[in-house]
Amino acid sequence: MVSRKTASSKSRNAANVPASPLHVVILAAGQGTRMRSGLPKVLHSIAGTPMLGHVLRCAAQLGAEKCHIVVGHGAAQIRQWAAKHSADMVFAEQKQQLGTAHAVLQAMPNIPDEAQVLILYGDVPLIESGTLKELLAEAGAKLGVLTADADDPAGYGRILRHRSGSVQAIVEEKDASPDQRKISEINTGVMCAPASLLRNWLQQVRKDNAKAEYYLTDIVALAAKDRIGTVAVMAASLAEVSGVNDRAQLAEQERVFQRRQASELMRLGTSLSDPARLDVRGSLLCGQDVHLDVGVVIEGEVELGDNVYVGPYTLLRNAKIGSDTRIESHCVVDDAIVGRGCRIGPFARLRPQARLANEVHVGNFVEIKKSSLGDGAKANHLAYIGDATVGSKVNIGAGVITCNYDGANKHQTVIGDGAFIGTDTQLIAPVTIGPGAYIAAGSSIARDAPPDQLTICRARDQRAFKGWKRPEKK
Ligand code: UD1
Ligand code: CA
Repeated sequence: MVSRKTASSKSRNAANVPASPLHVVILAAGQGTRMRSGLPKVLHSIAGTPMLGHVLRCAAQLGAEKCHIVVGHGAAQIRQWAAKHSADMVFAEQKQQLGTAHAVLQAMPNIPDEAQVLILYGDVPLIESGTLKELLAEAGAKLGVLTADADDPAGYGRILRHRSGSVQAIVEEKDASPDQRKISEINTGVMCAPASLLRNWLQQVRKDNAKAEYYLTDIVALAAKDRIGTVAVMAASLAEVSGVNDRAQLAEQERVFQRRQASELMRLGTSLSDPARLDVRGSLLCGQDVHLDVGVVIEGEVELGDNVYVGPYTLLRNAKIGSDTRIESHCVVDDAIVGRGCRIGPFARLRPQARLANEVHVGNFVEIKKSSLGDGAKANHLAYIGDATVGSKVNIGAGVITCNYDGANKHQTVIGDGAFIGTDTQLIAPVTIGPGAYIAAGSSIARDAPPDQLTICRARDQRAFKGWKRPEKK
């Protein structure tokens, strides 16, 4: 999910609230054999979120009163996922997979007659609420079917229309005549109908077909018999309504989703060096004139201020970056907050609870964990800063290490404003360096250093040996 940061970014009122309460039924009882996985198919992820999560989010955007999920294979794992993510849905168990009509029927006891029912698939993750709103609005009190035009319709149910254009029936591939198989308009599987009508039709569906299954698609003919028309709405693209059956299709849908997010980002005013080389697995909120270079990966919740630049192959996870900050290539920023006008990387690692104020510089091979750095602090090369409070304008030289761990416990290092920590210094925590202190290079500091003084702690004598010879190769 991508969005643009604005001064008053009030979320638009999402739903065109339908007259009758909307109940969404999500089919997810199938085995998903071709995934060859221990995980139920609908728990496989697109952009870091299980496919089922995408479908649920779409249902929420429609203002659904309730989501019913029909589960069979892997039901326990799906229930577990739902509990862990406090996903609000009603479970209906389909013990035997006797067909799509039978699947929907399992959810019907929990759906009131006055409801409008929308049927979605747990393995069709990229369906968009806009398309569904259109379907619901067009269908009204009739039967609605979402169709699509397929270059290669093989495997899908085909839409049969009267000469007048109205929908007559859906015929499954296996039951279709050679002529019917040439029809390119296919059934996506998504349907909507008033609950009372749907209940009635589902009870009439028989399994006298090639697969000996209860076909949901049979309700189109049943509606016609009841003189209730079927309204077909065609999806803008096949990609939006494509199902995932194997890992290759999962990867394809991932790319479609990523391209969709990239387009949205650019529309909102973010520059992308290559829209095909950005992965957003979570939510990204961007200010004005943000530029993301190739190979950037976003995970969790990330917020970027105005004029932020993120260099090639950088991972940002649950991070908030202030305006005018540059993050160069190959950085990992994980659960960190970075202020304005900072320079990070290349090759820097900000670990959980790194807190950088403004104009901070963190250079190559610097690792920062559970530490705060004040305004204008610098650690430009090769350092480890853990469990530390670093004041403003502190200069941390190359090779400085906070020795925060004694093998059993973590200890704090405190460095006052304006201190200078010479290169290759070890700060053996717990230890406090006073403001303005100057620590000589190569010191091992185990006791507090006073403010505004030079502190040095290294082997006293430097000796040279006259006449010493280098060892020679034998
Ligand atoms: C179905 C449609 C077909 C449509 C296609 C779109 C029917 C009869 N056919 O065919 O017209 O073109 O989807 O992809 O509806 N499921 C259950 N319980 C069952 C059977 C299926 O929960 O007993 C679930 C599956 O997990 C899956 C979905 O329903 O998510 C579709 O089932 P599937 O067997 O793949 O239907 P298709 O034969 O592809
Ligand atoms: Ca299918």
